Amino acid sequence: MRTLFLDALLGKPVEQTPLWIMRQAGRYLPEYRKTRAKFNDFMQMCRNSEACCEVALQPLDRYELDAAIVFSDILTIPEAMGMELKFISSKGPVFPTPLTTQKDIDGLDDKNALEKLKYVMDAVSTTKLAVKNRVPLIGFSGSPWTLAAYMVEGQGSKQFTEIRKMLYSVPFLLHTLLKKLAHIVTDYLDQQIQAGADAIMIFDTWGGVLTEKSYALFSLNYMRHIIAELKERHPNVPVTLFTKGGGLWLDQLVQVNCSGVGIDWSIDIMRARGLVADKVALQGNLDPAVLYGDHNSIRNQVKYIVESQKCHSKFVFNLGHGIYPDIDPDKVKTMVNAVREFGMK
Ligand code: CP3
Repeated sequence: MRTLFLDALLGKPVEQTPLWIMRQAGRYLPEYRKTRAKFNDFMQMCRNSEACCEVALQPLDRYELDAAIVFSDILTIPEAMGMELKFISSKGPVFPTPLTTQKDIDGLDDKNALEKLKYVMDAVSTTKLAVKNRVPLIGFSGSPWTLAAYMVEGQGSKQFTEIRKMLYSVPFLLHTLLKKLAHIVTDYLDQQIQAGADAIMIFDTWGGVLTEKSYALFSLNYMRHIIAELKERHPNVPVTLFTKGGGLWLDQLVQVNCSGVGIDWSIDIMRARGLVADKVALQGNLDPAVLYGDHNSIRNQVKYIVESQKCHSKFVFNLGHGIYPDIDPDKVKTMVNAVREFGMK
């Protein structure tokens, strides 16, 4: 197996910079759109392990990447807890009946949720088999905070006012929800590892809407518990945390025993390295909008990031957030080639 990605996370020497791309299997690839067109509904595709496997491998066939990621979504968990979930093409994911009261939260089914998520484990094991140890397979989940944000808000939002209202008006209620989610996320990730995932990624996409203190209490603390439990059960499986907007809190993030920390593009990579030193692997952080620029500018932007991390083995190149659906796949090729060209250690 090409182990560059795992080696970088575990702090072993690497001869070149590993890379993968957040949301690497997705609509910017014509081959993805072709597979996707066979399904009316996005979740229907997520329930088909063969289709999940097919689209997870598509970016690996096109580019020389160092990891595959399981094809699924973070919102599988709330759905398995009984919330109706719709993907509306102009709006993204929507929960028509968001959580508002204690009764709603008590009504969530946390007993049978994992049983209902078996289709995700089928996608993991099918993909693991097909990837044939070419590269490691990343399993993932949303963070409790990020899942709760969608469940309380009912959809994506700019300010996340509803959940922040809950945080200040009925904090105990929010903690009840986060606790439930943290237990399920832990077992969900554990099962993905048992099904074949070699590394874990936790997406805390909306952690950045919190204050520094509430981030510690309502997001990071639950991720800390999840990591501690996973480390007990699977000591050698690296966990990466990605809090979008978390660049300010890197000093807190390095203290939760994760192997890697994903950073978005708002913090300069050199400054981020200064803050974490070699305590964790850094993952990031090319602005995904750089891929709208011309080939030369892409090369230059990649060069800056990769060369700045030349003397650190704990570095994984990635975008600072998921790739946008209208990016030209040839631009991605330019980015990948530039990482190879400038990333020889
Ligand atoms: O290669 C991969 O990474 C694919 C697997 C994957 C998907 N979603 C597939 C997907 C992963 C890791 C995710 C994570 C995810 N989902 C996150 C966290 C990462 C991040 O970007 O911050 C979040 C917040 C979601 C929730 C979600 N799912 C949104 C907001 C949307 C719609 C908007 C969008 O970006 O497309 C989805 C749908 C979704 N999930 C699609 C894909 C490929 C597009 C749906 C389609 O093809 O019809």
